[in-house]
Amino acid sequence: MTRELGDVIPAPGEVRPDPAAGFTIETGVTISAAPGTEAVAEHLAAALRPATGFDLPIGPGPDAGAGAVPARTPGGIHLELDETLGDEAYRMVVDPGGIVLTGGDPAGLFYAVQTLRQVLPAEIHADGPRETVWTVPGGLIADRPRFGYRGAMLDVARHFFSVAEVESYLDALVQFKINHLHLHLTDDQGWRLEIESRPELTVVSGGAGTGVDGAGPGFYTQDEYAGLVAYAAARFVTIVPEFDMPGHVNAAQVAYPELTADGVAPGPRTDLEVGYSSLVAGKEETYAFVEDVLREVAALTPGPYLHIGGDEAQATTPEDYRAFIGRVLPLVAKYGKRPVGWHELAGADLPGDAILQYWGIDAADDTTAGAAARGHQVIMSPADRSYLDMRYAADTRPGLDWAGVTDVEKAYGWDPAGRLPGVGEDNLLGVEAPLWSETLRSLADAQTMTFPRLPAIAEIGWSPRVTHDWESFRRRLAAFGPRWREQGIAYHPAPEIPWQ
Ligand code: ACM
Repeated sequence: MTRELGDVIPAPGEVRPDPAAGFTIETGVTISAAPGTEAVAEHLAAALRPATGFDLPIGPGPDAGAGAVPARTPGGIHLELDETLGDEAYRMVVDPGGIVLTGGDPAGLFYAVQTLRQVLPAEIHADGPRETVWTVPGGLIADRPRFGYRGAMLDVARHFFSVAEVESYLDALVQFKINHLHLHLTDDQGWRLEIESRPELTVVSGGAGTGVDGAGPGFYTQDEYAGLVAYAAARFVTIVPEFDMPGHVNAAQVAYPELTADGVAPGPRTDLEVGYSSLVAGKEETYAFVEDVLREVAALTPGPYLHIGGDEAQATTPEDYRAFIGRVLPLVAKYGKRPVGWHELAGADLPGDAILQYWGIDAADDTTAGAAARGHQVIMSPADRSYLDMRYAADTRPGLDWAGVTDVEKAYGWDPAGRLPGVGEDNLLGVEAPLWSETLRSLADAQTMTFPRLPAIAEIGWSPRVTHDWESFRRRLAAFGPRWREQGIAYHPAPEIPWQ
C-alpha cells in the first residue's frame, strides 16, 4: 500500500507533501554521511539492507575534503547535522534527486531515520529480501519534540526480562521516538541487579522462583547491565534505574535481615499484595545499605537520573517517611545524580532538582501541584491513561484493572498539561508509559500490552498539541499491523482500529 508522507506516529509538527516528487530506493543507491552522522548512517543502513537486499554502502560523500561537509550524493540518501534545528529535531526532504535527512543533533537524525522507515512500505521490516518497490513519498517533514522526556517503564522485578528481551523491547519503542527507559529493578518479590558490596541481594532474591507466582529466575550482572545501558545509549535512550524504597523492599529484607525492625528475615513473597514492607528509618544499617546501592548504581549510570521509588509506603509512618527521604536524597546528590520519585515523594522535603512522577487517578491530587508550584518538574504517567498493564477491556488478558480498563482511545484521549490543575506545560519534564509485570509471563505478553497503546503515549509526548486528533491517529495506527507482524511484535488487535 502506498504511504503518504504524513503517515507517521508520532505525528510530525510540519508535513508538506509533494506527491509528484517521490524517490525510489534502488540497487546502487548509496548513503553519504557528513561528519558526526556515521553512527546513525549505520543504523539507517542496518534498517534498510535486509528487506531491500541492496548494499547501500556508506561513504563520506563525493566532495569530502578535510573538514568539509560533503555534498549530497545525487540519487542517494544524505545525512547531515544542523544544530540550529535544535535538540532532537530533524528535517527530511524527499525529491526525485534523493533523500536528505538533517538532524539538530545525532538523536534528531536518528528520529529522521525512524520517520523514514515508517513512510516506506511495511515490508521494510522484513528480515530477508522482498520484491517491493521502495518508494518514499515526496515532500518535506520538519519535526521536533514537545517534551524532552518521553519514557516507557518496564517492571523487571515482578517478572524478569532477560537482556535480549529488554533490548528487543527497546528496539520496538525507539521507532516511536521514546528516549527514556525506566527499569523498575527491585520490589517485594525480587532484586534484579547485582550489587557487588551486597551479593546476597541477587543470590537470595534474584534466583529461581522469585517472580510473581514463582516465575523467574533472573537478575542482571553489572556487566550485563552496563551492556544494556550502552545498547540503549547507542539508540539515544537513557536508562533510568529505579530502586523502590522505603516500601516495596521485602526482597532486600529476605537477603539482609538487618534491614528489618527486629533483624529477623521475612519469608520470600511472590503474591500481588503491596504496602506491607518498609526499610527502617531509625536504623543506621538502612542508610549504609542504601548508600551501597546508590553508589554502585550511580557508577553504572551515565544518565542524570536515579529513581528512588517512594510509592505506596503504607508500612512507613509519615514521620519516618520524611526522615528516610531526608537522609536518602543527599545520597543521590552525593553520587552526582538527580532524584526521581513517584508523586508520594511530594510529602517530604525535597531539593529543588527532585522530579515527581505522577501516577494518580484522582485529578484532585494537590501535593503534586504544590510541588510543581515550588518548582519541581513532573513526569506524567496517570494510571488510568498511561499504565500499559491495565486491561484493554474487561474480557482481555493479561493485565490488571484497578485503575479501570484502558482502550486505545482512552490512552490517546488526554493531555499531560491538562491533567492536574496547577501542573501545566512548563512544569512538565514529559510523559511516561509504565508497564508493571505482575500478570506478564513472556516478552509477547509485554508487547501485547504495549502495542498499540505505547504509540498513543509517544504521540502525546512528542507531537504538537495542535496535531492531536483521534480519527487521524487511529487511521495512522492501522498501518502498524503489518509492520508489527513483519517484526514479530505481538500486539492487541484493538477493535476500534481499522487494522490493515
Ligand atoms: C505505582 O503504581 N505504585 C507507582
